[in-house]
Amino acid sequence: MQEKGLLDKRNLPDREFTELWERIVLPKAIKEKLRNQVLLELTLRSKIPSKAAIPLHGIILLVGPPGTGKTSIAKGVASAAASAIQGAKITFIEVEPHALTSSALGKTQREVRKFLEEVVTEHAAQGPLIVLLDEVETLVADRTKLSLEANPIDVHRSTDAMLAGLDNLAARFPELLFIATSNFEGALDPAFVSRADLVLQIDKPTAEACEAILTDTLNALAEQWPALKKITKQPNYQKLSHELLGLDGRQIRKAVISACTSDIKVVLNPGLLTMEHINEAVSLAKRK
Ligand SMILES: Nc1ncnc2c1ncn2[C@@H]1O[C@H](COP(=O)(O)OP(=O)(O)O)[C@@H](O)[C@H]1O
Ligand SMILES: [Mg+2]
Repeated sequence: MQEKGLLDKRNLPDREFTELWERIVLPKAIKEKLRNQVLLELTLRSKIPSKAAIPLHGIILLVGPPGTGKTSIAKGVASAAASAIQGAKITFIEVEPHALTSSALGKTQREVRKFLEEVVTEHAAQGPLIVLLDEVETLVADRTKLSLEANPIDVHRSTDAMLAGLDNLAARFPELLFIATSNFEGALDPAFVSRADLVLQIDKPTAEACEAILTDTLNALAEQWPALKKITKQPNYQKLSHELLGLDGRQIRKAVISACTSDIKVVLNPGLLTMEHINEAVSLAKRK
């Protein structure tokens, strides 16, 4: 990627992102509400520009523990919303926060301002744009909790530059939407959180969702090794699913992969995977 601070750029809808969305297990009502909020952001602000009447800032924030699917949800919902708008030409870009932050005094602020004013502005001027600010805590750190390790003045200025830049962009581009994610809501500046039109808390999966994630992971393997289909039909499958409670979605998917590595025969032929292998891997994951 040539432009500094840009990690990814693609046109929406995007097949890979749509698959992420389809494979994310969340309560249906939450999934729909989030998709609808993205749709609303992309359509309503250009029709009713009055901020006084419709105070939308063009920011959605997803918060929750690591591994709960926030990054996948952000990319997925962008694509799902784009699919719902007939003939929409929506661009997606992902920001690389670490490329913008620097320990050199004043540099972060300059890089943030430059990124928003140059890169985001340039893309937003061409049409509807969704910008992913993944792990946004590095860019909008809470100014009242200045860390001693980072340069406190720089943290302050980076947050100031982000907030000013976001306000400015929101006013100029009604079809620009930022989707931000964070593992630490408490580390975010309250002024940023209060600007979000929707703050969605993503929690670890419920027992039912754990089972659905396990089944989805096994079904994906079963496309290649059909013998695996029968695991999900076994009588003690539900008992195994209950063991998953407490793990996040990433840990569940990883446990299935790790189960394949318990025996060289299974690595070479994942079709030989059994409940016992998975049980063992799940116990290991839970002990961590
Ligand atoms: N609720 C969920 N449903 C399905 N898969 C999930 C869920 N939560 C996490 N995952 C899976 O875990 C992996 C990591 O997800 P990711 O989006 O990186 O999480 P986060 O950004 O919250 O750390 C992905 O492969 C994702 O599909
Ligand atoms: Mg993430």
